[in-house]
Amino acid sequence: MQQRLLQLLACPECHDSLRLEAESRQGEEILAGVLRCTGCARAFPVRDGIPRFVAGDSYVSTFSFEWKRWQRTQLDTASRRTSELTFISSTGKQPQDLAGKLVLDAGCGAGRYMDVAARAGAEVVGVDLSFAVDVARRNLASFPRTHLVQADLLHLPLRRECFDFVYSIGVLHHTPDTRAAFSSLIENIRPGGGIAIWVYPRRRLSDVFRYFPNQVDAILRQDYHFTLPARLQPILRRSAGALDWAMESSSDAQRFFSTRLPPRWLYGMCHAAIPLYYLYRIPLFYPLRLLSKIGMDPNPQWRVLDTFDWYSPRYQWKHSFAEVRGWFEEAGLEEIALLPRLVAVAGVRPQA
Ligand SMILES: C[S@@+](CC[C@H](N)C(=O)[O-])C[C@H]1O[C@@H](n2cnc3c(N)ncnc32)[C@H](O)[C@@H]1O
Ligand SMILES: [Zn+2]
Repeated sequence: MQQRLLQLLACPECHDSLRLEAESRQGEEILAGVLRCTGCARAFPVRDGIPRFVAGDSYVSTFSFEWKRWQRTQLDTASRRTSELTFISSTGKQPQDLAGKLVLDAGCGAGRYMDVAARAGAEVVGVDLSFAVDVARRNLASFPRTHLVQADLLHLPLRRECFDFVYSIGVLHHTPDTRAAFSSLIENIRPGGGIAIWVYPRRRLSDVFRYFPNQVDAILRQDYHFTLPARLQPILRRSAGALDWAMESSSDAQRFFSTRLPPRWLYGMCHAAIPLYYLYRIPLFYPLRLLSKIGMDPNPQWRVLDTFDWYSPRYQWKHSFAEVRGWFEEAGLEEIALLPRLVAVAGVRPQA
């Protein structure tokens, strides 16, 4: 960690400031030491250059496994900007809007969106409960204004009201309580600052037709990687409720078993997504997509990753637009926007 991070940290219990007792340094970087609370005297270790506010990776051990196996798979490259595009559709922000801003990535994983924000010139703090923080630290080593913290979003060790922008993409529904995790982010936004979250959708097809009737095609292409012939759209609209129910209940039933498998076995089984992809792309077999979800990315490794990411996490809640918009309203946020990626919502904390 860098000395600068100390200005952004606070005790997760009493919110007093922390004092650093460095034990080992490498240049500007503090590799090992102790952070001691000036209020309640609790102590938190710095290990391998990262402050640790949790004893281990708790219920997210499958994510430690995931990000260790696919360390750079989803990081943008010169020829592929998928994470940047997903960042834009999930937050409603262009990366360049973040230049010079202080940004929090809540649930950073291996750091693909931190990479997007850092490339645009933001200073980014990434928090994750899993050992993905160690992978992210390596992935972002070339950006001096990025910081990693291993902590629980429900007990954030951060100074209040200091971030210009907070985003959380694909994370909050993997905590024990999506709404509580969302609420705990609000106090970190400075007055006038923004927040954007993307969580898994409940009744996805029904919400597409309800909120974005003119963008059905584009959304389905983005979410399911397939194009629906225009003449079939009315049929899809009429059956949206039933299809949502079929997809959600079959997935819940499969996850009942998959979340109980040893991660190594599940990892092996997820490789079925590599050949199944070709079958799932044949229109005759589209119904299979309803019954057994697999990653549909053209990159085979990405497909295995996405499939593992779906079937492995202990918690996986789903939410409708109406529900998430309600959380934003009750948090007193303004300029609330429903974004055409289900379910992505953005808002602004009012000026004090
Ligand atoms: C599906 S991954 C998404 C990671 C990253 N946002 C991305 O899209 O690449 C979900 C992440 O949420 C993290 N997570 C789950 N519960 C958490 C919590 N209570 N506090 C911090 N991170 C948490 C997991 O460790 C995991 O890395
Ligand atoms: Zn304290």
